Amino acid sequence: MLTRRTFLHSAAGAACLAARAQSTDARIEILPSEPIGRIAPEIYSHFVEHLGGVVYDGIWVGENSAVPNVGGIRKSLVDALARSKPGAIRWPGGCYADQYDWRDGIGSRAQRPRRTNFWVDSPEWPKNARRDGPQAYEPNQMGTVEFVRFCRLASAQPYIAANLRSLPAQEFWRWIEYCNSPAGSTTLAARRAADGDPQPLNVRFWGVGNESWGCGGNFTPEEYATEFRRYTAWVPGYGARLSFVGSGPNGGDLNWTRGFFDKAGASLNSMWGFALHHYSWNASGGRTTDWMAGKRDALRFDAEQYYEILREANLMESLITSHWGVMGEVDRRHRVKLVVDEWGAWYAPGTEPFPEALLGQQSTMRDAVLTGLTLDTFQRHADKVAMANAAQLVNCLHSLFFAHEDKFCVTPTYHVFAMYAAHQGAQSIRTMISAPQVGYNRNGQPATLPGLAGSASLEGKRLVLTVTNLSLDQSREAEIAVRGTAIQSAKAVVLAAADVHAHNSFDAPNAVEPKEQAVSPRGSLLVHRFPPASVTKIEIATA
Ligand code: AHR
Repeated sequence: MLTRRTFLHSAAGAACLAARAQSTDARIEILPSEPIGRIAPEIYSHFVEHLGGVVYDGIWVGENSAVPNVGGIRKSLVDALARSKPGAIRWPGGCYADQYDWRDGIGSRAQRPRRTNFWVDSPEWPKNARRDGPQAYEPNQMGTVEFVRFCRLASAQPYIAANLRSLPAQEFWRWIEYCNSPAGSTTLAARRAADGDPQPLNVRFWGVGNESWGCGGNFTPEEYATEFRRYTAWVPGYGARLSFVGSGPNGGDLNWTRGFFDKAGASLNSMWGFALHHYSWNASGGRTTDWMAGKRDALRFDAEQYYEILREANLMESLITSHWGVMGEVDRRHRVKLVVDEWGAWYAPGTEPFPEALLGQQSTMRDAVLTGLTLDTFQRHADKVAMANAAQLVNCLHSLFFAHEDKFCVTPTYHVFAMYAAHQGAQSIRTMISAPQVGYNRNGQPATLPGLAGSASLEGKRLVLTVTNLSLDQSREAEIAVRGTAIQSAKAVVLAAADVHAHNSFDAPNAVEPKEQAVSPRGSLLVHRFPPASVTKIEIATA
């Protein structure tokens, strides 16, 4: 039986569906007087690992490339990313973080060493992929200053995941010193200046290892708690507020959370966030829990596989509440927040945008619905989730972009991020959605999912409601009311397609695009029809 943990160890080891109209049978009631918490812009964060085509050639093309670039960084990518208002970008892994030596990525780029990237051994490489390039042998051209410049170009905050498995704690502190010590203060500040950045990079977010239950060292939670304490004790802040993120559980592993929190004791005071990872991968309908056998194709899927991936994504809600409950047994005032720093769909190999894009997969309207469903879940728990990072940004799992040589396109997932950016910084408010469930056949047994799911936020008089219709084949008309407030005007943006398998590609980059739609208030209500397998944003001006 192969699990994700053993898979990673081995690596480092339709339906074209016509909408059947329904009469109004759903109601959405938004309650401005019931705030949940401020929606952290960092919920809209991303993840970049030295893995397949993510960094080379997704982001880094080099200064001498014919591909338009800013100091070696792909221009089309940063321009589009900036428009979607990214919160933070996590780098350099993932599992690669616990192999990475930050000292390889500083100094003259011409002198930097070439190293083996452990992903070279992954069983998921496409057969026709070349295994001798930067995707397998890391040339260290995108090191720390290049990564932080990428973040600045995209107006995102850097989030660095440090190596806990194979570098000593002292190197963690020195990496912080390289990034944040004042100009002229230390040898490493001088090194940074020689690398082009005399002023501190002011990196606030630091991950202390990654998946320490697996590729990050196969620790027990108690062992990891001791390591976390050692790495984070008495680290100089250099005037910047340091926010340490501890390696949290794999999906529903409450034993990891309980074991860590019970043991961590006073070191919880130096923890800002606890990282949960959850991928939606098992589309087998419960037929297997094997990591390789349970995954299905990103493009060719039937109704059961469509719903099964959304079912996996919809587990996010219970993962958040269950881990939060366990954390609260020790951290009673909930000082430590949840950071979901890896989430998204993970399909079987076969739809890579180019062969060297290891773990690259296509992204359809199903992935757009998964994205909306997940972002809405985070927003409904804005009091608990302080950051979330979709895995991964480009040419990989659940990506926003595909980029290869001079070709570039955005995915349906990108459009959802751009639509939902309107929520950032606003107050999440309780929203009650009452709609018939959708039913499907799960390996011969009846199964259900919510018909509509969503969240709402309020800033001043501007209210934003986002909703996904999970049904493959039924549109759903809903009455929308804002309790205690009149609706003055509203406008909608809808992401939908006649076929849920619709996707963008280098040859058809605009096959899936959001469309604006007028919404007219009827008295104190809005009435809106949500198309099947769609994501909708409605911006409402209240009185
Ligand atoms: O995102 C791919 C891999 O999935 C990451 O390297 C690892 O952290 C996770 O298991």
